[in-house]
Amino acid sequence: LADGPLKGRHILVTSGPTHEPIDPVRYIANRSSGAQGTALAAALRDLGAQVSFVTGPATVSPPDGVKVIKVETASEMLEAVQAALPADAAIFSAAVADWRVANAAEKKMKKDGTGNLPALDFAENPDILATVSQMKTGRPGLVVGFAAETHDVTRHATEKRARKGCDWIVANDVSPGTGIMGGTENAVTIIDAKGAESWERMSKAEVAQRLAARIARALSASGE
Ligand code: C5P
Repeated sequence: LADGPLKGRHILVTSGPTHEPIDPVRYIANRSSGAQGTALAAALRDLGAQVSFVTGPATVSPPDGVKVIKVETASEMLEAVQAALPADAAIFSAAVADWRVANAAEKKMKKDGTGNLPALDFAENPDILATVSQMKTGRPGLVVGFAAETHDVTRHATEKRARKGCDWIVANDVSPGTGIMGGTENAVTIIDAKGAESWERMSKAEVAQRLAARIARALSASGE
């Protein structure tokens, strides 16, 4: 482990999309690459943290020097997060599917040749960020969520922070035309108890380094 301000700290990071099965060969997914979560895990490692990296099937490879826990579904991600706790801080950068298929088939679904179409029923997935934020015992000292918004970023992110019960929300504007979703740059606003702080547009690696430094300052200020 690197020597640095996060030496001796255990930090949990979720990253990537989740895959929600329809049948053994098909699934519902989203376009998250895992780039920002991966960069963040690497930046926390570089400051000396012991990182547990719970990742869905991302397109970006996980960083070296972290404990990688691979999952597919939101339910598996929640279980892996709970198994990885306790942690000094938990950062939820995964793009977790809001819904899973409630009637997923155990065998591959087949066309029956008569033109009958399958119907999917959905069930709501657990909200991992809200679950951990609202833990009565063993809650990490710092819980950080992400928010992808297309308009009124600060207002929506402030509401999200209150609703989930996390300490910070890292909000980004993913409007079409920003090139942020799937791109290499990010422009974020950090919402905490004191208000909103907007950072200029920079690389996802630089966002990760600045966030990791802010996390290190917060943990040393909390004096735990
Ligand atoms: O509600 P929304 O999906 O916009 O919230 C985004 C934040 O919540 C992200 O930090 C994401 O990782 C987290 N989240 C979660 N579990 C879910 C849905 C979102 O941890 N089921």
